[in-house]
Amino acid sequence: MKTVLLIVMLLGIFATGAFALDHPAMHQMIMEQGGPKADTRTELKMPEPMKVMHKGIMRNHLDAISEIAAALAGHELSRAADIATKDLGWSDAQEKMCAMFGDLAGDKDFLALGKAMHLKADDLAADARKGDRDKALADLSQLIRHCNACHERFRH
Ligand code: HEC
Repeated sequence: MKTVLLIVMLLGIFATGAFALDHPAMHQMIMEQGGPKADTRTELKMPEPMKVMHKGIMRNHLDAISEIAAALAGHELSRAADIATKDLGWSDAQEKMCAMFGDLAGDKDFLALGKAMHLKADDLAADARKGDRDKALADLSQLIRHCNACHERFRH
Protein backbone atom coordinates (compact mmCIF):
# COMPACT_ATOMS: atom_id res chain seq x y z
CA MET A 1 0.00 0.00 0.00
CA LYS A 2 2.84 2.37 0.97
CA THR A 3 4.62 1.56 -2.30
CA VAL A 4 1.47 2.36 -4.28
CA LEU A 5 1.16 5.68 -2.45
CA LEU A 6 4.81 6.49 -3.15
CA ILE A 7 4.39 5.72 -6.85
CA VAL A 8 1.25 7.90 -7.00
CA MET A 9 3.12 10.75 -5.28
CA LEU A 10 6.13 10.44 -7.58
CA LEU A 11 3.85 10.39 -10.61
CA GLY A 12 2.19 13.53 -9.26
CA ILE A 13 5.53 15.31 -8.88
CA PHE A 14 6.57 14.13 -12.35
CA ALA A 15 3.26 15.31 -13.83
CA THR A 16 3.66 18.78 -12.23
CA GLY A 17 7.18 19.08 -13.62
CA ALA A 18 6.05 17.89 -17.04
CA PHE A 19 3.23 20.45 -16.94
CA ALA A 20 5.69 23.28 -16.33
CA LEU A 21 7.97 22.02 -19.13
CA ASP A 22 5.11 21.42 -21.56
CA HIS A 23 3.64 24.85 -20.95
CA PRO A 24 6.64 27.19 -20.78
CA ALA A 25 4.53 30.24 -21.62
CA MET A 26 2.09 29.51 -18.78
CA HIS A 27 4.95 28.73 -16.41
CA GLN A 28 6.57 32.05 -17.31
CA MET A 29 3.29 33.90 -16.82
CA ILE A 30 2.86 32.43 -13.33
CA MET A 31 6.49 33.21 -12.43
CA GLU A 32 6.09 36.80 -13.67
CA GLN A 33 3.19 37.15 -11.25
CA GLY A 34 5.41 36.18 -8.32
CA GLY A 35 5.16 32.35 -8.54
CA PRO A 36 2.32 29.91 -7.78
CA LYS A 37 -0.17 31.21 -5.21
CA ALA A 38 -2.63 29.42 -2.94
CA ASP A 39 -6.32 30.19 -3.35
CA THR A 40 -6.93 32.06 -0.09
CA ARG A 41 -10.66 32.64 -0.60
CA THR A 42 -13.11 31.20 1.95
CA GLU A 43 -14.38 27.83 0.83
CA LEU A 44 -18.09 27.08 0.68
CA LYS A 45 -18.03 23.61 2.16
CA MET A 46 -20.82 21.71 0.47
CA PRO A 47 -21.44 18.34 -1.15
CA GLU A 48 -20.69 17.99 -4.87
CA PRO A 49 -24.38 17.99 -5.99
CA MET A 50 -24.88 21.34 -4.25
CA LYS A 51 -21.81 22.75 -5.96
CA VAL A 52 -23.26 21.62 -9.29
CA MET A 53 -26.57 23.29 -8.41
CA HIS A 54 -24.87 26.49 -7.22
CA LYS A 55 -22.76 26.73 -10.38
CA GLY A 56 -25.93 26.26 -12.45
CA ILE A 57 -27.55 29.18 -10.59
CA MET A 58 -24.40 31.22 -11.25
CA ARG A 59 -24.51 30.51 -15.00
CA ASN A 60 -28.17 31.58 -14.99
CA HIS A 61 -27.07 34.84 -13.34
CA LEU A 62 -24.54 35.36 -16.13
CA ASP A 63 -27.26 34.67 -18.73
CA ALA A 64 -29.47 37.25 -17.01
CA ILE A 65 -26.67 39.84 -17.17
CA SER A 66 -26.25 39.14 -20.89
CA GLU A 67 -30.01 39.48 -21.52
CA ILE A 68 -30.20 42.71 -19.52
CA ALA A 69 -27.27 44.16 -21.51
CA ALA A 70 -28.95 43.15 -24.78
CA ALA A 71 -32.28 44.69 -23.72
CA LEU A 72 -30.59 47.96 -22.70
CA ALA A 73 -28.62 48.01 -25.97
CA GLY A 74 -31.91 47.62 -27.84
CA HIS A 75 -33.60 50.39 -25.78
CA GLU A 76 -36.06 47.82 -24.41
CA LEU A 77 -36.07 49.27 -20.91
CA SER A 78 -39.12 47.53 -19.53
CA ARG A 79 -37.77 44.17 -20.72
CA ALA A 80 -34.43 44.90 -18.98
CA ALA A 81 -36.36 45.81 -15.80
CA ASP A 82 -38.46 42.64 -15.93
CA ILE A 83 -35.39 40.38 -16.32
CA ALA A 84 -33.55 42.19 -13.51
CA THR A 85 -36.52 41.79 -11.16
CA LYS A 86 -37.45 38.24 -12.11
CA ASP A 87 -33.97 36.69 -12.37
CA LEU A 88 -31.84 38.78 -10.00
CA GLY A 89 -34.15 40.83 -7.74
CA TRP A 90 -34.22 40.47 -3.95
CA SER A 91 -37.10 38.42 -2.49
CA ASP A 92 -37.89 36.14 0.44
CA ALA A 93 -37.07 33.10 -1.71
CA GLN A 94 -33.77 34.66 -2.73
CA GLU A 95 -32.94 35.49 0.88
CA LYS A 96 -33.54 31.85 1.90
CA MET A 97 -31.26 30.65 -0.92
CA CYS A 98 -28.40 33.07 -0.12
CA ALA A 99 -28.75 32.36 3.63
CA MET A 100 -28.50 28.62 3.00
CA PHE A 101 -25.25 28.96 1.03
CA GLY A 102 -24.02 31.52 3.57
CA ASP A 103 -24.54 28.99 6.38
CA LEU A 104 -22.41 26.50 4.47
CA ALA A 105 -19.69 29.12 4.11
CA GLY A 106 -19.93 29.76 7.86
CA ASP A 107 -19.42 33.46 7.14
CA LYS A 108 -22.12 36.13 7.35
CA ASP A 109 -20.44 38.15 4.60
CA PHE A 110 -21.76 35.68 2.03
CA LEU A 111 -25.39 36.68 2.66
CA ALA A 112 -24.43 40.38 2.84
CA LEU A 113 -22.55 40.24 -0.48
CA GLY A 114 -25.39 38.28 -2.09
CA LYS A 115 -28.00 40.74 -0.83
CA ALA A 116 -25.98 43.75 -2.07
CA MET A 117 -25.83 42.23 -5.56
CA HIS A 118 -29.58 41.44 -5.66
CA LEU A 119 -30.53 44.91 -4.34
CA LYS A 120 -28.41 46.49 -7.10
CA ALA A 121 -30.47 44.48 -9.61
CA ASP A 122 -33.59 46.08 -8.03
CA ASP A 123 -32.00 49.56 -8.49
CA LEU A 124 -31.36 48.71 -12.13
CA ALA A 125 -34.98 47.60 -12.59
CA ALA A 126 -36.28 50.82 -10.95
CA ASP A 127 -34.06 53.08 -13.11
CA ALA A 128 -34.96 51.17 -16.29
CA ARG A 129 -38.69 51.49 -15.43
CA LYS A 130 -38.19 55.26 -15.02
CA GLY A 131 -36.79 55.25 -18.56
CA ASP A 132 -33.28 56.26 -17.43
CA ARG A 133 -31.10 54.13 -19.70
CA ASP A 134 -27.82 55.83 -18.72
CA LYS A 135 -28.47 55.20 -15.04
CA ALA A 136 -29.53 51.61 -15.76
CA LEU A 137 -26.26 51.01 -17.63
CA ALA A 138 -24.26 52.43 -14.73
CA ASP A 139 -26.27 50.14 -12.41
CA LEU A 140 -25.39 47.19 -14.64
CA SER A 141 -21.69 47.95 -14.29
CA GLN A 142 -22.02 48.18 -10.50
CA LEU A 143 -24.10 45.02 -10.45
CA ILE A 144 -21.27 43.09 -12.13
CA ARG A 145 -18.82 44.54 -9.59
CA HIS A 146 -21.06 43.16 -6.83
CA CYS A 147 -20.89 39.71 -8.50
CA ASN A 148 -17.14 39.83 -8.46
CA ALA A 149 -16.87 41.17 -4.90
CA CYS A 150 -18.25 37.81 -3.78
CA HIS A 151 -16.05 35.82 -6.19
CA GLU A 152 -13.04 37.59 -4.65
CA ARG A 153 -14.05 36.35 -1.16
CA PHE A 154 -15.57 32.88 -1.68
CA ARG A 155 -14.88 29.74 -3.68
CA HIS A 156 -16.09 26.16 -3.95
C1 HEC B 1 -22.61 35.92 -2.58
C2 HEC B 1 -21.65 35.31 -3.44
C3 HEC B 1 -21.78 35.37 -4.92
C4 HEC B 1 -22.41 36.33 -5.70
C5 HEC B 1 -23.09 37.60 -5.26
C6 HEC B 1 -22.25 35.90 -7.05
N1 HEC B 1 -21.54 34.73 -7.11
FE1 HEC B 1 -21.02 33.73 -8.80
N2 HEC B 1 -20.01 32.36 -7.71
C7 HEC B 1 -19.88 32.37 -6.34
C8 HEC B 1 -19.01 31.29 -5.92
C9 HEC B 1 -18.62 30.96 -4.49
C10 HEC B 1 -18.60 30.62 -7.09
C11 HEC B 1 -17.64 29.46 -7.20
C12 HEC B 1 -16.29 30.12 -7.51
C13 HEC B 1 -15.09 29.20 -7.49
O1 HEC B 1 -15.11 28.12 -6.92
O2 HEC B 1 -14.11 29.63 -8.08
C14 HEC B 1 -19.26 31.31 -8.20
C15 HEC B 1 -19.11 30.96 -9.52
C16 HEC B 1 -19.66 31.64 -10.60
C17 HEC B 1 -19.54 31.27 -11.98
C18 HEC B 1 -18.82 30.02 -12.52
C19 HEC B 1 -19.90 28.98 -12.80
C20 HEC B 1 -19.33 27.65 -13.32
O3 HEC B 1 -20.03 27.01 -14.12
O4 HEC B 1 -18.21 27.27 -12.92
C21 HEC B 1 -20.19 32.21 -12.72
C22 HEC B 1 -20.35 32.27 -14.24
C23 HEC B 1 -20.74 33.18 -11.79
N3 HEC B 1 -20.41 32.80 -10.50
C24 HEC B 1 -21.50 34.28 -12.18
C25 HEC B 1 -22.02 35.21 -11.29
C26 HEC B 1 -22.73 36.41 -11.69
C27 HEC B 1 -22.98 36.85 -13.12
C28 HEC B 1 -23.10 37.05 -10.56
C29 HEC B 1 -23.81 38.35 -10.41
C30 HEC B 1 -25.01 38.60 -11.15
C31 HEC B 1 -22.60 36.26 -9.43
N4 HEC B 1 -21.97 35.14 -9.93
C32 HEC B 1 -22.76 36.61 -8.13
C33 HEC B 1 -20.49 33.26 -5.48
C34 HEC B 1 -21.22 34.37 -5.85
